[in-house]
Amino acid sequence: MVQNQALFTYTTEAGQKLHVVHGDITSEHVDAIVNAANGSLAHGGGVAGAIVRAGGRVIQEESDAWVRRHGPVRVGDAAITGGGRLPARYVIHAVGPVWRGRGDEAALLRSAVQRALALADSHDVRSIALPAISSGIFGFPKPLATRVIWDAVLDYFAEHPDSGLRAVRFCNIDAYTTRLFQEEGLRRTETNAE
Ligand code: AR6
Repeated sequence: MVQNQALFTYTTEAGQKLHVVHGDITSEHVDAIVNAANGSLAHGGGVAGAIVRAGGRVIQEESDAWVRRHGPVRVGDAAITGGGRLPARYVIHAVGPVWRGRGDEAALLRSAVQRALALADSHDVRSIALPAISSGIFGFPKPLATRVIWDAVLDYFAEHPDSGLRAVRFCNIDAYTTRLFQEEGLRRTETNAE
């Protein structure tokens, strides 16, 4: 098993590990990976396209079945399918906001991340990898996205002490986003030590 290497690790008081990883999320050996999806779960470009290419059409088919049954996924919410031939058992499709500068985007991104973590918990997921949702095609500024995503994860753990999640891997294919994820982690380590 070849795992993308962690460049940085943060440990919460309860012992959960938050890793920053540079690499392709489709090769992550975790229980679940998070997709940056749209509400119709029509996985075209970006990380969504990569997930369907690597995991197989079955992920798109399961997504279509999900939407037929439940309707579109709301912005700030998430849905779950199997992982097809991916190493991960599940794909959790989180729908972040399109950046329009309206002022509600950070709250919607935070909600998408926390709904994805709650879905993971309800499926006994112990390890999860997630990209910088909304920060590609949806245009969310990357420095703000990485900060909101870190806060969303740490606040989720603080608010759910019974969470079974042990490892969260912030995994991004692009070096700039990975550096931002790492800087956010370092900032929190320094604040922790004060
Ligand atoms: N592994 C890890 N990170 C990746 C990968 C990968 N293989 N590919 C891209 N990223 P995006 P969005 C990073 O555009 O902005 C799709 O068409 C990328 O660098 O995938 O939420 C969907 O169907 C960026 O930081 O998602 C939606 O319509 C992050 O993943 C729409 O795009 C998210 O970029 C969603 O747009």
